[in-house]
Amino acid sequence: MISLSHLQQLKARNEPFGCLTCYDATFAKAMEVAEIETILIGDSLGMVVQGNSSTLPVTIDDMVYHTQAVAKGNQHALLLADMPFMSYATLEEALSNARVLMQAGAHVVKLEGGAWLAETVRQLARGGIPSCIHLGLTPQSVNVLGGYRVQGKTREAADQLLADCEAVVAAGAALLLLECVPSQLAAEVQARFPVPVIGIGAGPDCDGQVLVMHDMLGLTFGKPARFVRNFMSDSESIVEAFTTFQQAVKRKDYPAPEHCFQIAL
Ligand code: KIV
Repeated sequence: MISLSHLQQLKARNEPFGCLTCYDATFAKAMEVAEIETILIGDSLGMVVQGNSSTLPVTIDDMVYHTQAVAKGNQHALLLADMPFMSYATLEEALSNARVLMQAGAHVVKLEGGAWLAETVRQLARGGIPSCIHLGLTPQSVNVLGGYRVQGKTREAADQLLADCEAVVAAGAALLLLECVPSQLAAEVQARFPVPVIGIGAGPDCDGQVLVMHDMLGLTFGKPARFVRNFMSDSESIVEAFTTFQQAVKRKDYPAPEHCFQIAL
């Protein structure tokens, strides 16, 4: 079973690790065959499974249901489960909702935000719950951000994101996840902080790479995001697509320059 300390060792060896979203037991088994190190039970399920136009309708009960299903199929990967929209608005809600996700089989809970989460991260860690903090494009804040856009594009915005990382890492965050930020900014975060950094649309220097499973299987209807590569198109099976993704991450063939946001800061 992959542990957080295993991910730390991979970071120390500069060996990237794979992560895919997953929502049920069968796909979790397929990811195990492909030796994917980490699985995210993402609240993206609100879009790719439930058919909503954002992640906002997802409830803690939805997350518990899918986390239990994935946990039953998984004997290999470290499982990260998303805390859904407004389920960590207060410290009490955060602790109680994180507890039910861990009891459902998660190993780490993921929360979207920045420095304002520091106390929550500290209390979760005290209670034995590791956290992953998702920064950059945070889909639960789509209505504040004004759309699904690249974040951290100016030096000022980049410095704000670095300060947010500093606060949550000092509070005890076990992992960081960066979505849609310039590659140069993600490289700064990866080099500056001791915890593993997972990226999506965050360039080749992150310690781990994550994609939404449906996207990398070519099940995106409409224009896929710049960072998506379809691993199914040259594969004969879903397991082969997962394996090709894992190998491309390990060999640092994915993400390639065309999947990245190169913006001078
Ligand atoms: O919910 C999700 O799938 C995510 C990924 C986009 C990282 O948070």
